[in-house]
Amino acid sequence: MTPRRRAASVICVDGPSGSGKGSLATALAKRLGWRYLDSGALYRVVGAAALDRGVATDDEAALASMARGLNIELSEGRVGADGLDLTERIRDEAVAAAASEAARHPQVRQAVLAQQRLAGEAPADETSGLVADGRDMGTVVFPSAELKIFLDASAEERAQRRYKQLRNKGVTVNLRTVLANIRDRDARDEGRAASPLQPASDAVIIDSTHMTIGDVLRQALALVRESGLAEAPAGYRAGTTAHDVNQPTIRSSRARHPGAASKPKT
Ligand code: C5P
Repeated sequence: MTPRRRAASVICVDGPSGSGKGSLATALAKRLGWRYLDSGALYRVVGAAALDRGVATDDEAALASMARGLNIELSEGRVGADGLDLTERIRDEAVAAAASEAARHPQVRQAVLAQQRLAGEAPADETSGLVADGRDMGTVVFPSAELKIFLDASAEERAQRRYKQLRNKGVTVNLRTVLANIRDRDARDEGRAASPLQPASDAVIIDSTHMTIGDVLRQALALVRESGLAEAPAGYRAGTTAHDVNQPTIRSSRARHPGAASKPKT
């Protein structure tokens, strides 16, 4: 018999490429002992498959049909599809561009949605929640999430971070090219009609341009505590609130909290 499943508590971390949302979401999931959903990895698998199979990224019907047929596996930091390990491959710049081109199409997004919503369910006897990172986690995939964070940073800062990451991996790149790629992706992600990149109306916006990942994590943990999602998680500094850690970097905050009782739609 299939075990009963229930809607898990969800924290959404949305934002543009290079804002640090992946680092924040994984660190939060680890601190809380929750599961982590890297929704960008799903779109990257679709992008990689399109490149490998020669499916044009402007052919919505062919892409969607391909995406529906992919058996994508995300587990413990590894990403696979149809039995192939794609963990390293999907981090290519070419794959990132193909992913963002494919992600413009509503039918492709629909194909990926089911897999994302499934991650929002947990076995009925499991108490842990989900930290989901992406572009539309708070606006479309988990609109009733208990906490929504929108992590931003200037395009120049995001390009610098990506440039350092690539250099550390031994990849020879030019900072101007990295910045141009980031701007292209921003334009596509923000300008598309289907689920454009934008903060949910009840998201807390954090600008990480002048913050370290440690600062961002402290601020997010304070928000988690204020939301009543978890008692002071391990490593949380007692007495800290979301509003006294790097206060000037909070550009805006939601008017009200959606409430711990609301659960994501499945
Ligand atoms: O987050 P990441 O850079 O891995 O995402 C790759 C691409 O997938 C993004 O540029 C974006 O176009 C798309 N994406 C999306 N919606 C999400 C996550 C990613 O459209 N929730």
